[in-house]
Amino acid sequence: MAKNFDVVVIGGGPGGYVAAIRAAQLGFSTACIDEWKNEKNGPAPGGTCTNVGCIPSKALLQSSEHYEHANHAFAEHGIEVKGLSMNVGQMLARKNTIVKQNNDGILYLFKKNKVAFFHGRGSFVKGDANGYEIKVAGAAEETITGKHIIVATGSNPRALPNAPFDEKLILSNTGALAIDAVPKKLGVIGAGVIGLEMGSVWRRLGAEVTVLEALTTFLGAVDEQIAKEAHKLFTKQGLAISLGVKIGAITAGKKDVTVEYTDDKGNAQKAVFDKLIVSIGRVPNTIGLNAEGVGLKLDERGFIAVDGDCKTNLPNVWAVGDVVRGPMLAHKAEEEGVAVAERIAGQHGHVNFNTIPWVIYTSPEIAWVGKTEQQLKAEGVAYKAGTFPFMANGRARALGDTNGMVKFLADAKTDEILGVHIIGPMASELIAEAVVAMEFRASSEDIARICHAHPSLSEATKEAALAVDKRSLNF
Ligand code: FAD
Ligand code: NAI
Repeated sequence: MAKNFDVVVIGGGPGGYVAAIRAAQLGFSTACIDEWKNEKNGPAPGGTCTNVGCIPSKALLQSSEHYEHANHAFAEHGIEVKGLSMNVGQMLARKNTIVKQNNDGILYLFKKNKVAFFHGRGSFVKGDANGYEIKVAGAAEETITGKHIIVATGSNPRALPNAPFDEKLILSNTGALAIDAVPKKLGVIGAGVIGLEMGSVWRRLGAEVTVLEALTTFLGAVDEQIAKEAHKLFTKQGLAISLGVKIGAITAGKKDVTVEYTDDKGNAQKAVFDKLIVSIGRVPNTIGLNAEGVGLKLDERGFIAVDGDCKTNLPNVWAVGDVVRGPMLAHKAEEEGVAVAERIAGQHGHVNFNTIPWVIYTSPEIAWVGKTEQQLKAEGVAYKAGTFPFMANGRARALGDTNGMVKFLADAKTDEILGVHIIGPMASELIAEAVVAMEFRASSEDIARICHAHPSLSEATKEAALAVDKRSLNF
């Protein structure tokens, strides 16, 4: 295999593998190095997202939702289920198959696009504006060179200082996605995205789930009205969410974990769990990269320091995805990867941070793009709001999924859409229309005047846009 490349990408997650494909499409000789191993020590490109993130979590969310529907929703449709049971082993096997399909899909894409794949850990040896030597430590050790280097080494779960992950009792996302029997009592520290998604999976399957959150505000980054609705619905579903707690000692026994904490009233509490998921955020991963050896600058939080174009302090070295500032989302990493490859080619790659959508895949799903109402208030922006509840949407009624709403926020003067917030069925899909609208700097009236299929959930989007001008037709 060739050893000298125009572009070498370190890391094969969504940021790295997409950057490599785009660079190859643009005519560069390209290599991608990734160290992730499957059970058989073979390559498993796709990063956190494919192996222990987006993909496996959505697989388990789907399985557990089917189970919950069979348990609680089928009867209403006249479907009678007797002797329903959950085979957790089969659910995990299905998830593993989906992960492998994605790993293999990326290897196929590398072949198709003539990206040279190296399985092992990549680290800087030396280099300058003329090129860099990168050591690949895999089954064998070799050195390759790249004129441009794109670092996409991702992130790792943040552990509590007094509770290292053992992945048996104290679980990061990796262990949380591989629990092999429904725990009776599951503790979750951190009511963020992972805590709520994973907590939902195991609650649906019958676990008693307690979520302990340090902040006094629930989902602080989410529009307040939507977050309030989410808190109400999740609590009704049976997630016990305690806000404003201060976590104290965590003691792992043989079969359970004891968590001592102070509740929001200052009372000392103690809870014993069969498993404990710690989901308190993630930290950038630069382990083993030899950043210091070549003078690659990190910021004070350990992220690789980059400018708005993902350029690092070293000439022709770029960094994208979770290892740099900005939201830790797969699609953000991908967009940065594409933009960097295009910039290397002298094109004008661009990532619009204002229109990056967020989705939390709970039930109901929560999705948003743009500003929240509290942000607009804080910024002193004059705005109009319009909401429409799924309760008044025919398709949602037919689906039996009427919780939630769509909310539009538009500029009071120009009517430009400033934010769209959805809690409800298929919010993850519905938000795409809002993203397109905001990219084209549409007004709420633009959406209100577009013909939406009937009956469809997207009519709730149109109706919320109409509501900005106080002229909903169906509510
Ligand atoms: P990563 O995906 O972390 O990939 C980095 C890769 O680089 C890894 O394969 C790693 O092994 C490799 N690597 C690191 N160092 C080296 C080295 N020195 N040499 C060689 N290889 C190296 N985001 C969403 O948008 N939607 C979701 O639904 C979603 N769900 C998630 C669920 C969970 C449980 C978790 C944990 C995360 C989720 N995320 C989701 C976040 C998403 O996974 C990340 O934002 C995304 O994976 C970041 O991509 P990346 O390419 O920057 O890094
Ligand atoms: P998070 O940042 O979403 O949530 C962490 C939560 O833990 C916060 O609410 C925080 O206040 C709380 N916390 C922090 N320290 C604490 C402590 N000592 N005690 C109690 N609570 C504490 O992080 P999470 O859930 O770990 O996920 C990491 C990242 O992965 C997300 O920010 C997101 O970028 C990505 N992700 C995205 C998903 C999606 O797009 N659907 C799904 C899962 C993860």
